Amino acid sequence: MVHIFAIESSCDETSASVCADGKILSNVIANQTVHEQYGGVVPELASRAHMQNIVPVVDAALQTANCQLSTLDAIAFTQSPGLIGSLLVGAQFAKSLALSLDKPLIAVHHMQAHVLANLIAEQKPGFPFLCLTVSGGHTQIVVAHSPLQLEIIGETIDDAAGEAFDKTAKMLGLPYPGGPLIDKHAHQGNAKAFKFAEPQIPGFNFSFSGLKTSVLYFLQNEVKKDADFIQNNMNDLCASVQYTIINILMKKLLNASKQTGIKNVCIAGGVSANSGLRNVLKEYGEKHNWQTFIPAFEYCTDNAAMIAITAYYKYLAKDFADLSVSPTARATW
Ligand code: KG4
Ligand code: ZN
Repeated sequence: MVHIFAIESSCDETSASVCADGKILSNVIANQTVHEQYGGVVPELASRAHMQNIVPVVDAALQTANCQLSTLDAIAFTQSPGLIGSLLVGAQFAKSLALSLDKPLIAVHHMQAHVLANLIAEQKPGFPFLCLTVSGGHTQIVVAHSPLQLEIIGETIDDAAGEAFDKTAKMLGLPYPGGPLIDKHAHQGNAKAFKFAEPQIPGFNFSFSGLKTSVLYFLQNEVKKDADFIQNNMNDLCASVQYTIINILMKKLLNASKQTGIKNVCIAGGVSANSGLRNVLKEYGEKHNWQTFIPAFEYCTDNAAMIAITAYYKYLAKDFADLSVSPTARATW
């Protein structure tokens, strides 16, 4: 049995996971609350919190999996993309562990790992599959030809879908990260109450900056007339913003499915935790005869289990990293 130990530390979650032959035995995640008061992640504070969290998180992941260090066959970590200080903590820890245990090191791309989170469940998508990856920093449509052959066919030209949620939430006075709060308010709101701009971008690429401006000007106008406009319409505003973002995403995904002929369709990344998007994906699935897949909630936002499952396939392909490997803030694949 192949035991992989994985660490994820690209942004503001410190996470560690053990997987055995592709089955996740533990996935421990420490969230950092220190950023809430600043309305966004403060990189230096994130690095320091990772330093504090990493040893207890690693211990807890091994204990939960009932696994000894001596059982591990390889050590994996998120190499890129992410905040460089945060990445460094996980990378250094993983390299030290691999060196001291004399086990191979596996470097994982965070965005590829989000896609492969769909391979954790018992019911896995067949290849090829399409994946809409929507996170705080990225929005991509990926064709997965095989676990390690992933092709980006569309991406955002400006803001990511998660940023669109977080930035509009900030305009509504909601704390960071605003995505989950928009989701919560949207449950009680009317999605057709307000209409916001949808971009006309060719191909499978996305743009969210126009929506942001459209919401900003609309709010400025309404607040001039009624100072309590936002408070009095919070649920409808959240529902309408969420509806627009989902519409922008799903139109492109539908086009991608039509043009590629691929009907195995997945979503991934932090925004795939959004209940509206999850429901709409199922509706599209029924309407367009798709097989749809969504990772379990804990594997949508940043987590080490997705790093572990990706590393498992890299282990099978003997795709190991040298101890001289460095993390990088930005990376293509
Ligand atoms: O993948 P992720 O955990 O971190 C990155 O790699 O960026 O994604 C974080 C993003 C944030 O923008 C957050 O607001 C958004 O995912 N998010 C949500 C929900 N849960 C997390 N957005 C909308 N609805 C949610 N329920
Ligand atoms: Zn992520």
